[in-house]
Amino acid sequence: MKIQVPDNIASIVPYPPGKPLEELEREYGVSNSIKMASNENPWGPSPKAIEAIREALTNLHRYPDGSGYYLVHALAEKLGFTAAEIVLGNGSNEIIEMLVKAYVQNGDEVITSHPSFLMYQKIVQVRGGVNIVIPLLVMHHDLATILSVITAKTRLIFLDNPNNPTGCPIKLTDLYSFLSAVPESVLVVLDEAYVDFMDNELQPDVFSLIRNSKGRCGVVSLRTFSKAYGLAGLRIGYGLMPSEVAGNLHRVRQPFNVNQLAQVGALAALADEDFYQQTLQRTRQGLNYLQTEVAKLGCKSYPAQTNFFLVDVGGDATVLYEAMLHKGVIIRSMKPYGYTDMVRITVGSAEENQRCLAALSACLLELAYV
Ligand SMILES: Cc1ncc(COP(=O)(O)O)c(C=O)c1O
Repeated sequence: MKIQVPDNIASIVPYPPGKPLEELEREYGVSNSIKMASNENPWGPSPKAIEAIREALTNLHRYPDGSGYYLVHALAEKLGFTAAEIVLGNGSNEIIEMLVKAYVQNGDEVITSHPSFLMYQKIVQVRGGVNIVIPLLVMHHDLATILSVITAKTRLIFLDNPNNPTGCPIKLTDLYSFLSAVPESVLVVLDEAYVDFMDNELQPDVFSLIRNSKGRCGVVSLRTFSKAYGLAGLRIGYGLMPSEVAGNLHRVRQPFNVNQLAQVGALAALADEDFYQQTLQRTRQGLNYLQTEVAKLGCKSYPAQTNFFLVDVGGDATVLYEAMLHKGVIIRSMKPYGYTDMVRITVGSAEENQRCLAALSACLLELAYV
């Protein structure tokens, strides 16, 4: 084969896929392993979503509704937007891809933070765009520096709020003054994958920001059903945005980008307020419990407005991650992100949290970290 791949593609490091639990168990000789690494909902999908999906199975010989009519209208009603301001995606990930496809050409600049969600930069690279990467400042987006690097070539700014992996939100006053200083020619994408877990008073008023874009930069909010709604395996997310931006995303998206089961599952999950509220309450309880207990083990943990948090384990994080794997507990090492002594732990069920703490306690002693 002699076909050439362009340099911008050849230099991409593929997103590191996790191994199936069964494979890990075989490799490490453990059983009953638990995954607290991908910020998923440990209480499963809403039973109402499962029921809706079951009922929809007999219709799989048909293409899905390419407009996602019922889900888009349910979201519009719940959130106060019009259907023309909502775009569905195969995960919110796909909406990141649509935004870059629609707005970034060879040589255009996109500003992101490091560390933050890995996919922004990869997708920009696919498109031949230029990544301008600004390090976080004490775990928060460095908005002043981001403003200072905007040029005539800047098209998009991605801000995950709260940030993944730090769990830190942007202070509202800082966000609002930042947005009023960004030029109209730039689109600011607030990736709100974890917004459900934030305290209400810390959540930005994205409705006003999106509706009042006259004379200022456009704002897009990305949301997902993968976290609080427990539907990560279905792949469904959405974006809220000015209708003009939505119109451009419809130009570049696949006609049937969101599958039928994802649409009916998300619609049912959206209506299951009890399950959603219970998830938020259990997540908060679990986070408090884990943070209190981790402190008793002698580790510093960081406050988070998410269903995950960072822990400074006082030694090489990847070595600790490996030791935890041998005990059947999967967490994330933050060493590849530059936080050499930190791990990221996703809140699990009560039983998973206890198992994680027992494993952490044993590993810290074995490795003489505390
Ligand atoms: C900040 C952030 N944005 C987006 C996503 C992607 O979510 P989705 O499952 O909707 O593609 C994630 C997933 O972990 C994330 O952490």
